[in-house]
Amino acid sequence: MKTRITELFGIQHPIIQGGMHFVGYARLAAAVSNAGGLGIITGLTQRTPAALADEIRRCKEMTDKPFGVNLTFLPAVNSPDYPGYINAIIEGGVKVVETAGNNPQKWMPALKEAGIKVIHKCTAVRHALKAEAIGCDAVSVDGFECGGHPGEDDVPNFILLPRAAEELSIPFVASGGMADGRSLVAALALGADGMNMGTRFIATKEAPVHDNVKQAIVAASELDTRLVMRPLRNTERVLVNDAVKRLLEKERELGASLKFEDIANEVAGVYPRIMLEGEMDAGAWSCGMVAGLIRDVPTVKELIDRIMAEADGLVRQRLAGMLAG
Ligand SMILES: Cc1cc2nc3c(=O)[nH]c(=O)nc-3n(C[C@H](O)[C@H](O)[C@H](O)COP(=O)(O)O)c2cc1C
Repeated sequence: MKTRITELFGIQHPIIQGGMHFVGYARLAAAVSNAGGLGIITGLTQRTPAALADEIRRCKEMTDKPFGVNLTFLPAVNSPDYPGYINAIIEGGVKVVETAGNNPQKWMPALKEAGIKVIHKCTAVRHALKAEAIGCDAVSVDGFECGGHPGEDDVPNFILLPRAAEELSIPFVASGGMADGRSLVAALALGADGMNMGTRFIATKEAPVHDNVKQAIVAASELDTRLVMRPLRNTERVLVNDAVKRLLEKERELGASLKFEDIANEVAGVYPRIMLEGEMDAGAWSCGMVAGLIRDVPTVKELIDRIMAEADGLVRQRLAGMLAG
């Protein structure tokens, strides 16, 4: 399939694997790129720029296809060494960066000078327009359904994507709630040039996370996610578990006086215990409503081939057949 996204990134299929904390290691990114999509290493999961440089090297040993690195700009008290991470990306010869969180404007000159394509992930049309204005090459439009941080506007993709298509000139991918060929065809119909998936890629053989995490996604329905940290205006969609129930109880109790410290036990530093050790109640972890559409743990290549075959069948048979009829 050829779209503005496959052309921009030099990939075979318009499918991107979004950066995911403690999931987006070289192994998954390389598997996605080898299967014809765009794999993305999660920059901040690597504790230092040197560790990221090693991970980039590992990815290059596993694939000769294009892959990217995610850099998430968070409102953190102790800001990560962003100049160091950016240097590791440039020195490593990475050609695509997925930015997320705060506006990446400050880092655009360095990235552009190195010939890097920037795709910014955002949850609102106004942020997408800002990304276009500061020179991003593409955007990833993350609807309210998405796993992780859906923002505070709560606009689902059925509205958000056509709104983005009305306003943007640069290509964009649909993100949030994407799982299969139906998602891809719908995303294209709504004006996107491809799709970005998070949760779906966790439930694959190559995702380097504990099997408990994959099985939790397979077992979950579309009713099993919750929004946490809304009172802090840092909303995150997570899979419900004991820690999330405790967290929500605390939010109800404390109301507007809630501070991050009140819930830190349930959210800070919990990812290694969940993703690597498989302690499923250790804390809150991002997961999309799309869990309700995930029923197996295929290889990445099986997943991507299946999506493309299903999309092809939908367009050529179901949709074309309806027109013919
Ligand atoms: C476990 C998990 C961790 C994530 N971590 C990050 C992250 O560190 N940075 C980021 O920009 N997005 C992160 N995301 C968001 C994904 O890149 C993607 O935008 C989102 O999962 C899309 O929604 P979906 O899960 O419905 O496919 C994460 C998502 C999940 C499920």
